[in-house]
Amino acid sequence: MLSPMDGLLRPVHQWVWGDFDRRVRKLLAFAEVETDGGRDILRAAELTPDPLLRRLYLEHAIDELHHGHLFRERGAALLRQRSARATTRFNGNPLPGGHGLDDLRIEGEPDHRLLAFLHVAEKAAAGRFMIYRELVDDDPATRAIFEQILRDEVFHMNYTYTQLARISPRSHRWQIWRARGSRLWKRYLRVAAAIAAVFGTVMISLLYFIVLPPFAWFARRAERREAPGWTPIPGRRHDSSESRHSQY
Ligand SMILES: [Fe+2]
Ligand SMILES: [Fe+2]
Repeated sequence: MLSPMDGLLRPVHQWVWGDFDRRVRKLLAFAEVETDGGRDILRAAELTPDPLLRRLYLEHAIDELHHGHLFRERGAALLRQRSARATTRFNGNPLPGGHGLDDLRIEGEPDHRLLAFLHVAEKAAAGRFMIYRELVDDDPATRAIFEQILRDEVFHMNYTYTQLARISPRSHRWQIWRARGSRLWKRYLRVAAAIAAVFGTVMISLLYFIVLPPFAWFARRAERREAPGWTPIPGRRHDSSESRHSQY
């Protein structure tokens, strides 16, 4: 279940979970993603024409809403333990959320595409929650939440696969590869946008510190050469303006 990428990113995960403030922020961010995902899956339950899927989606939605509640409660409890102080230099999170359900689109999506998307997202979530569970070893209450949620994510991962194989027996593997490809593409776009933002900031800074100073130096030199006070307009130019006025 653990993806090679998550294995490589383990030190970053460690850095995120090792700090109290970042841990609280991450838990609260998970609460949002899980709750939003739960609402979307509830909508999927309303839309599907398949009675068995409706029941499973409902169960899934209840689980995700429950996960959101657990994360929110734990984040709030940690905040109560120590009033949040913005002592960390970087409070952002360079990694995507545990679940990836924030990319979920329900309207107009047929069940086979939705199930493939959910299967890939749940599998990734299960792998990531396994890492998080180990990284919060110092905090048994948070670890217990990850353990509980991990069991649900494994159930979600398995039922989405079984149901996808039931409704698209011939193309379920292809559907999963397509969902994986689209997930990777979205990740790539996110990383590319972040790199473009950093690159833009570096370019603007270079322009400011390298290209602008010579102009400032020339402007100062020109200023020194200028005589102070009013400068008389050359006579010829003055005459021509007068002659122009006389024409009217
Ligand atoms: Fe979840
Ligand atoms: Fe889930």
